[in-house]
Amino acid sequence: MELRSAHWYAGEHRNAYIHRAWMRRGVPGDAFTGRPQIAIANTASDFTPCNAHLTEVAASVKNGIYEAGGIPLELPVVSLGETNVRPTAMLWRNMAAMACEEMLRANPIDAVVLLGGCDKTIPALLMAAASVDLPAVVVPGGPMLTGTFRGAPLGCGTDVWRLSEEVRAGTLSQEQFSRSESAMIRSRGHCNTMGTASTMALVAEALGTVVPGVAGTPAPDSRLLEAAHGSGRLVVDMLAADRRPSTFLTKASFHNAIVALAAIGGSTNAVVHLLAIAGRLGVELTIDDFDRIGSHVPVLVDLQPAGRFLMEDFHRAGGLLAVLREVQDLLDPTALTVTGTPLVDYLSDAPIWDPEVIRTRSAPLVAEGGIAVLRGNLAPGGALIKPAAASPHLLQHRGPAVVFDSIEDFHARIDDPDLAVTADSVLVLRGCGPKGYPGMPEVSNMPLPKKLLEQGIRDMVRVCDGRMSGTAYGTVILHVTPEAAANGPLALVRTGDMVVLDVAARRIDVEVSEEDWARRTPNDATVTGFANPRRGWERLYIDHVQQADTGADLDFLIGSSGWKVSRESH
Ligand code: FES
Repeated sequence: MELRSAHWYAGEHRNAYIHRAWMRRGVPGDAFTGRPQIAIANTASDFTPCNAHLTEVAASVKNGIYEAGGIPLELPVVSLGETNVRPTAMLWRNMAAMACEEMLRANPIDAVVLLGGCDKTIPALLMAAASVDLPAVVVPGGPMLTGTFRGAPLGCGTDVWRLSEEVRAGTLSQEQFSRSESAMIRSRGHCNTMGTASTMALVAEALGTVVPGVAGTPAPDSRLLEAAHGSGRLVVDMLAADRRPSTFLTKASFHNAIVALAAIGGSTNAVVHLLAIAGRLGVELTIDDFDRIGSHVPVLVDLQPAGRFLMEDFHRAGGLLAVLREVQDLLDPTALTVTGTPLVDYLSDAPIWDPEVIRTRSAPLVAEGGIAVLRGNLAPGGALIKPAAASPHLLQHRGPAVVFDSIEDFHARIDDPDLAVTADSVLVLRGCGPKGYPGMPEVSNMPLPKKLLEQGIRDMVRVCDGRMSGTAYGTVILHVTPEAAANGPLALVRTGDMVVLDVAARRIDVEVSEEDWARRTPNDATVTGFANPRRGWERLYIDHVQQADTGADLDFLIGSSGWKVSRESH
């Protein structure tokens, strides 16, 4: 097979000389004669603490590539640290994906190993790999170890909210709270709850893009380096077999990813990421597939935020393969993995070692997990709710809307003692969609009004065109499509309108007469929000981003351009 990199390196002409000479730097000449050039797309960055260790992981990948006869070359790519990047990391996911795709295509690369961890990094890398369609394998950076504070385990993310609530309640001093800060991040690695990073690593494995059994290996565990080494060897085999994303990622792969997402009780963020990856591959995946395939799958994993344990426990208990074995009858047996072997072939020897952490099918944490897709006059394009995370008594509800035009408006008024809000109210937050914020931040699980918290109210119906953190919980209707800033009906709702939620019927509606509705116009703040950039990525993003129901990708990035570059370098 002729290597793609040969288009740069092969031959005696001047251009080939230039390509080789600048890359020699101590590398022997036979490096350029028929040996695969393998990129290691590395999202390590000091600004992405969850991924900072990936350069050590890359070293193990390199050893594996060398052993298999390839030439490893590190390719630093845009990295997104969830806790640092403003205004929200999701604004930059498509930019990271586009930059990685273009650099994979622009350089003499035959195949790639993708190193990610923090929330947006694995989705961005997979979107890029799908579009450039070179053989690619993901090595997830892995979760951090379990930290403890005052003798109890700390779930990062989830326990920040718990401890800060304890301070508000007077059961934890400010000094103790500050002291917990250095205990929150026990080790290298990403968040250790079943948040978005853990979810996306596991879903990437269920999709077939990670060597089965690797996702969820804690970042400091030496088995991660062993897996990285093995993935380096594997990618050279993948190249020889011409095993590119388009050759094995099918609707069946996404079916299995959706089953896994439900069974692990994973983050709703996986919906936009999987839709975006499918869009790059030309796989016809819709939000309704998440409801159809996933909503009757039991949740088997007892991890924070839904449950008790953390990712270190999950790995010890058997990891994803043990979960999938329990729901094997729901999986599509035809879906292949990076190894060329079907995912289901890895499940025969995948015991549950701790049934407290990974439940058996006969004793699930929640009988029916997954994500329900709602439609109605408030969300004609669809909206999501995670019923297992909601309060059962609120799954059917009718209450007056209390509307906020932006997250800033929300913060300014939510704790106002004079705000007309009761436990029956429906909190509506708009201006938080892909265009409106811009970037679709994780704000949909808005905190409850203080005066209701003091009355013991712990959940209310909330409706928003944004996303929510994978560590969040509550009766939250999110990803409302079209968003307010795209002239969705959400822009026209007024405080006092009656909102009707019926999850069993998959409906979310507002009771307003057609005549009244037709007379309404959105106010400027509702439609434009804070999105008024004049230049740069934000300008490009707002002009081209699609809605959440198709993955919030840019319209001109849908699909694959493949790896070909039509012109030589000049
Ligand atoms: Fe990086 Fe949570 S902040 S995974």
